[in-house]
Amino acid sequence: MSIKHDFIFGKGEMITRWYNILPDLPFELPPPLNPQTLEPVSPEDLLSIFPEEVVRQEVSPDEFIEIPGPVLDVYRLWRPTPLLRAKRLEERLSTPARIYFKFEGFSPVGSHKGNTAVAQAYFNRKEGTKRLTTETGAGQWGTALSMACAFFDLECTVYMVRISYEQKHYRRTLMEVYGSEVLPSPSTRTKTGSGILSADPQHPGSLGIAISEAVEDAFSHPSTKYSLGSVLNHVLLHQTVIGEETLLQLEKIGEKADVLIGCVGGGSNFGGLVLPFLRDFLRAKKSGGPQPFKPRIIAVEPTACPSLTRGIYAYDFGDTAGIVPALKMFTLGHGFVPPSIHAGGLRYHGMSPILSGLYKEGLIEARAVGQREVFQAAVLFAKMEGFLPAPESAHAVKAAIDVALEAKEKNEPLCIVFNLSGHGYLDLGAYEAHLKGLLQDYEPGVEIERSLKTLPQKPRVGDS
Ligand SMILES: Cc1ncc(COP(=O)(O)O)c(C=O)c1O
Repeated sequence: MSIKHDFIFGKGEMITRWYNILPDLPFELPPPLNPQTLEPVSPEDLLSIFPEEVVRQEVSPDEFIEIPGPVLDVYRLWRPTPLLRAKRLEERLSTPARIYFKFEGFSPVGSHKGNTAVAQAYFNRKEGTKRLTTETGAGQWGTALSMACAFFDLECTVYMVRISYEQKHYRRTLMEVYGSEVLPSPSTRTKTGSGILSADPQHPGSLGIAISEAVEDAFSHPSTKYSLGSVLNHVLLHQTVIGEETLLQLEKIGEKADVLIGCVGGGSNFGGLVLPFLRDFLRAKKSGGPQPFKPRIIAVEPTACPSLTRGIYAYDFGDTAGIVPALKMFTLGHGFVPPSIHAGGLRYHGMSPILSGLYKEGLIEARAVGQREVFQAAVLFAKMEGFLPAPESAHAVKAAIDVALEAKEKNEPLCIVFNLSGHGYLDLGAYEAHLKGLLQDYEPGVEIERSLKTLPQKPRVGDS
């Protein structure tokens, strides 16, 4: 096979529909449970938080969902994103592997998060919502939703995990530029936040707490809905534009992915890349036909917050206060407060139910990496390829380098594709700390066991 291009700019083909993996899954997704009764949620439960179209998409049986025109118009600002070949990195590693990366940092907000933010803001606006509330870890999701709300004329309140609010104030400023109100979480704005602060005024916050605050705020104000940037089925659905474009871009150059890699917080950029690559395989499996090739698919998480590699598959709340529906997922327990690593977007105790099911079935694999080796990999990548990865995305860079080195040992000419989910130009404080040797690795111990004791206790529908 001859590869003529070092760079493949994807300009030209816009994806016009999202891929819904639900009808192709080889298992039933256990339903979300009402947090009070622990019985399956009714659509009404969800409609008090999300707009109707989003609730419909969450459980849709349709294989594809057309992307509305106004959403496509915004996507055109940065989509299709480039798929690039990391030629210099390959040479530096002396690997026979070919390494490609899908660069989602190409968007105005610097990450993949805009793909769902724009869709969610659009559906809310169409159904009469006036204000959206949300949480954000490192600030990428909050930035994306802030931009989307500016485009669709919605107000936006962002609860930003306190440690990131303090570490990443430029992100906060960017959200404010787009017109959002940004509060450090835990905050005194909500009962949840006030309770946590009265027990520990220095609490660093977590995504679970910020979600509780944002949902409480939405519940207690009219014309206000909540928007989640990861985990749920509709979020992964919106992110499938990443994988659909990558499939087309690889086809154009006669390549086929042997290995797909992405970092996982709640699972949306990883799911967005890999789900379309599973389609033919899952369909053939269902129809009993000859099995097509399935790439190796690797989810990469931090050792500090290892939901897949050290969590358990059980029903758990998506937030710390237990006010959002409980999901069947790999979880470290909703009370788990991850150590304050710089990849703030990966500090989430749970994992997308779709990805959790795929992992349980052995269709995807997972590995955990420490933040020091992650930053070393990111610096090498920047020296070779120029782009500075977001700390979250750098987890995928680290795994891609490791797989390329494994390929070298086995002399395997693998085609490796990873998602560079965002750029790190607003994370220079983290890089500064790395260069000064100030970063630490974390491996939680008894905290995980302790927090797993807080899982919801009532009858667990669908538990195995
Ligand atoms: C750049 C980037 N990559 C990855 C993630 C992790 O989220 P997810 O697993 O939903 O893609 C985040 C979350 O904030 C992020 O900002």
